[in-house]
Amino acid sequence: MWSSLSEVDEAVRGCTDCSLCGGRTNAVPGDGDPSSEIMFVGEGPGYYEDVQGLPFVGQAGQLLNELLTEIGLKREEVYITNVVKCRPPKNRDPQPDEIQECSKYLDRQIELIDPKVIVTLGRYSMDRFFPGQRISRIHGTARRTGGRMVVPMYHPAAALHQPSLRRTLSDDFAKIIVAAEATPAEPVPEEPDDPAQQLSLF
Ligand code: URA
Repeated sequence: MWSSLSEVDEAVRGCTDCSLCGGRTNAVPGDGDPSSEIMFVGEGPGYYEDVQGLPFVGQAGQLLNELLTEIGLKREEVYITNVVKCRPPKNRDPQPDEIQECSKYLDRQIELIDPKVIVTLGRYSMDRFFPGQRISRIHGTARRTGGRMVVPMYHPAAALHQPSLRRTLSDDFAKIIVAAEATPAEPVPEEPDDPAQQLSLF
């Protein structure tokens, strides 16, 4: 098993475990501060991410930077990655087998970074933690799962297509800081059906 984030990065860059590797210019392992308390998980690289080998550097990335600025964070202060590390052809949705194959990298990144708060961007990332839920119902709601807080959000690209979601994203991003401050340093065991485990931030 990979013992450091740079070993995960190297494994991702050389990965040929699914067909997405055939279309990539660069794999996109992740970027940011590996000791951050806050980790963002998007869907998968798009055109610019594939060209640069970095996550969220296109239009959605610009909006992500703005949203971070609004809550007083710089992107270098958080860690950003995706559910799949190679660009799906024509930016199509990642397929279940691709997500499954790539999950070993995300799982290990989470273990190594050990963030207090994971922010999921979009439904594929939300599905990893809350399968079967609807993003329209749970966005902006911090929930404890797997011993840490996870806050599902709409994908920033959704606000590029539907401008009314821009405000929703701003409101939801404000809850990230509250979730981080409300999270104890030592993880609390998960109690899935206990409503007290959900932070009432709203
Ligand atoms: N959208 C994503 O989900 N991830 C990226 O890295 C870029 C756009």
